[in-house]
Amino acid sequence: MSQGFTLWFTGLSGAGKTTLTNELVPQLKARGVKIEVLDGDEVRTNLSKGLGFSKEDRDTNIRRIGYVARLLSRNGVGVIVAAISPYKEIRDEVRKDVEANGATFVEVFVQASLDTLVSRDVKGLYKKAIAGEIANFTGVSDPYEAPESPEILVSSDTETVAESAAKILDHLEENGLIQPAYFLAQQETEARFASAGEAQ
Ligand code: ADX
Repeated sequence: MSQGFTLWFTGLSGAGKTTLTNELVPQLKARGVKIEVLDGDEVRTNLSKGLGFSKEDRDTNIRRIGYVARLLSRNGVGVIVAAISPYKEIRDEVRKDVEANGATFVEVFVQASLDTLVSRDVKGLYKKAIAGEIANFTGVSDPYEAPESPEILVSSDTETVAESAAKILDHLEENGLIQPAYFLAQQETEARFASAGEAQ
């Protein structure tokens, strides 16, 4: 069984956490990793349904996500978490829990400047938050505590999604959490030869 890990994306709404997740999932699957995704927007429709955006509710949301990530990653699953997770203390608490269970925690700061986010405003939420129509909006009227020393820093201001994904795959590979791409190709070739041999 491969070693499980939690790849924890933190960053403002619209910074690219979900986009990066969608880019990575097929690539990780292609490397033979069992993958599960816990995405903030989605978790809030089931596991965290009814929670709002006060500090208390956000902490509860993140602790729930952390709990599931811990159970999965200790069983060899590669878990991608994509939630704003604005508070450092809770992210560090989850890190400790994951590591205490023998899995690896990789914090990825998905950085983007507020200017970029406001001009992109994919969901139209920044405009509303600036107009005061949404209270406690992260980065506008609610805090975001950036990680001080994340394992990986990616920036959707200056990198393409493919570049950011490659950075993450390199890190996972260098730390022995996924197999190098050439290794898998080699295994496939060997398996093909073996089955061709059996057929003779
Ligand atoms: S977290 O703070 O608890 O980690 P989470 O990632 O689950 O947040 O949810 C963030 C998503 O909720 C945003 O991408 C956005 O679509 C939506 N949202 C609605 N209200 C807010 C708010 N006040 N602050 C931030 N995001 C909000």
